[in-house]
Amino acid sequence: MESFAGRVAVVTGGGSGIGRALAVALAREGARVVVADVEEPALRAVVAEIEAEGGRALGVPTDVSDRRQVHALAARAADGFGGVDLLCNNAGVVLHGGIEAATHEDWQWVLGVNLWGVIHGIEAFVPAMIRRGEGGHVVNTASAAGLVATRGLGVYNTSKYAVVGLSETLAKDLRPWNIGVTVLCPMGVATRIRQAGRNRPAALGGGRPAAGEPVELMGGTLPPEQVADMTLAAVRANELYVITHAEVLEPVRRRFERLERAIHRTRGAPTRP
Ligand SMILES: NC(=O)c1ccc[n+]([C@@H]2O[C@H](COP(=O)([O-])OP(=O)(O)OC[C@H]3O[C@@H](n4cnc5c(N)ncnc54)[C@H](O)[C@@H]3O)[C@@H](O)[C@H]2O)c1
Repeated sequence: MESFAGRVAVVTGGGSGIGRALAVALAREGARVVVADVEEPALRAVVAEIEAEGGRALGVPTDVSDRRQVHALAARAADGFGGVDLLCNNAGVVLHGGIEAATHEDWQWVLGVNLWGVIHGIEAFVPAMIRRGEGGHVVNTASAAGLVATRGLGVYNTSKYAVVGLSETLAKDLRPWNIGVTVLCPMGVATRIRQAGRNRPAALGGGRPAAGEPVELMGGTLPPEQVADMTLAAVRANELYVITHAEVLEPVRRRFERLERAIHRTRGAPTRP
């Protein structure tokens, strides 16, 4: 997708942080933007911000962990602006604490938003993109935590590794329809992610104090606008990965070296008769 002018984009988690920056940047580039978020006041503020700049936006309250709500979002987007060209599955939440201490509700909440949210987006939008036959693009927001494991981030790591794997395969699967896939893997970005518990439903353990101490990320902190610009550049160039922080290179390299050593060690081991 070389230009966003006249295109229709959907951004989940568009009420804050990276999603807000993506929505605003896309609107500035001439896209009509459907902004989806579970936080309605934030959603309304982003729509108002885009419209104040002369852009076109539609706000649709949506909980991405609820399949029916994501299908309703797809219907509203089609009614409001027509066929969707760019889907940004960006909504996400973080949870700190060891896997050994995670509750079932911790897994349900984090995987519900971070993984099922992405799956629901694909289910609700990609078949229509294929039927339309005009190509398109899917951006999935994962994290550097989808490439490197960090103590105290295991539930989040699980969700984000899954999004990276899903995106790598999706890119291969959708190539015949000229639908590109980009997976966004940032480290620190100045957003409200550390207050992710604000949106945790009571039925899934919301309202309780956080179980674990926030993990200090290495590397610098980028403004979300810069991350949005990097992401849109990757969509234009049809690049699979957006890796925003050079600091991730060393841990990724060490992980790869551990895998490489394991392959040699395993192959070198005596085989069972
Ligand atoms: N900020 C970082 O350092 C960082 C690093 C790596 C990855 N990420 C990822 O970036 C994405 C965006 O997060 P952010 O940093 O902008 O945080 P943020 O909290 O500022 O924004 C996330 C948005 O998602 C919304 N949201 C939460 N649950 C939702 C749900 N069930 N349905 C719909 N919307 C929901 C929130 O209301 C919020 O508007 C997430 O997927 C996050 O995991 C962030």
